[in-house]
Amino acid sequence: MSVHAEQKPWTVPALAEAKRQGRRLAMLTCYDAGFARTLDRNGVDLVLVGDSLGMVVQGHDSTLPVTVADMAYHTAAVARVLRQALLVADLPFQADATPERALDAAVALLRAGAQMVKLEGAGPKLEVIRFLTERDIPVCAHLGLTPQSVLKLGGFKVQGREEAAAARLLEDARAVAAAGASLLVLECVPTGLAQKITAAVDIPTIGIGAGPHCDGQVLVLHDFLGLDSGHRRPRFVKDFLAEGGSVAGAVRAYVEAVHNGTFPDAGHAYA
Ligand code: KIV
Repeated sequence: MSVHAEQKPWTVPALAEAKRQGRRLAMLTCYDAGFARTLDRNGVDLVLVGDSLGMVVQGHDSTLPVTVADMAYHTAAVARVLRQALLVADLPFQADATPERALDAAVALLRAGAQMVKLEGAGPKLEVIRFLTERDIPVCAHLGLTPQSVLKLGGFKVQGREEAAAARLLEDARAVAAAGASLLVLECVPTGLAQKITAAVDIPTIGIGAGPHCDGQVLVLHDFLGLDSGHRRPRFVKDFLAEGGSVAGAVRAYVEAVHNGTFPDAGHAYA
């Protein structure tokens, strides 16, 4: 079954409306036109061209080597075939180091077809979020485990477990929303903290390893299909291909599980 005919194209204002209506959002990463068509025609609400492409497509150990040109290339390939899903693209490592650099990179990604850019962190990034959104560029913030900070963090680890770190994350979430972000990805955050953050901000939260109480979920495409990425498989990953029987079936199973709140369960979250 294709849900193509039933869903209007997603817009940025429609995301906030979805949160107000309690409608959950299903997002997957994607890097090429073939998969993008399957995601789009089978009910995925948001597609993320993530800089995770550095790891799952290019074979690097981190996202740090990814460039704006890489992101624009993959964004354009995905954008060509999307009809309904909203397209978000990552600003890669240090492309958002200053507001001016971020604007140049964001313009390149919007020209490639993105409808929103994602950037990691708060603190100095708040000025960048304000700068972009004041210039009509929608921004998705990303807090918790921010993979571009892997060297500083010392690895890909759950964030916000200690009281002080949890309080800082909550404060950062309020700050990115106040700075103008339209969406907030929470990665590898304990379930209770993600729930608190989701209640505290009026923009949709999209969890990845952040429990079932976020307003939506995202998975990396290769993880969701059970492909061996050469990296340890995190607890929150579920192989939907095993359940769906085909790529299109896996997408439909994922979208349904996110929409009805059965994914993630406690076995795919951090307490
Ligand atoms: O780059 C990416 O794929 C991401 C997701 C893990 C949210 O940022």
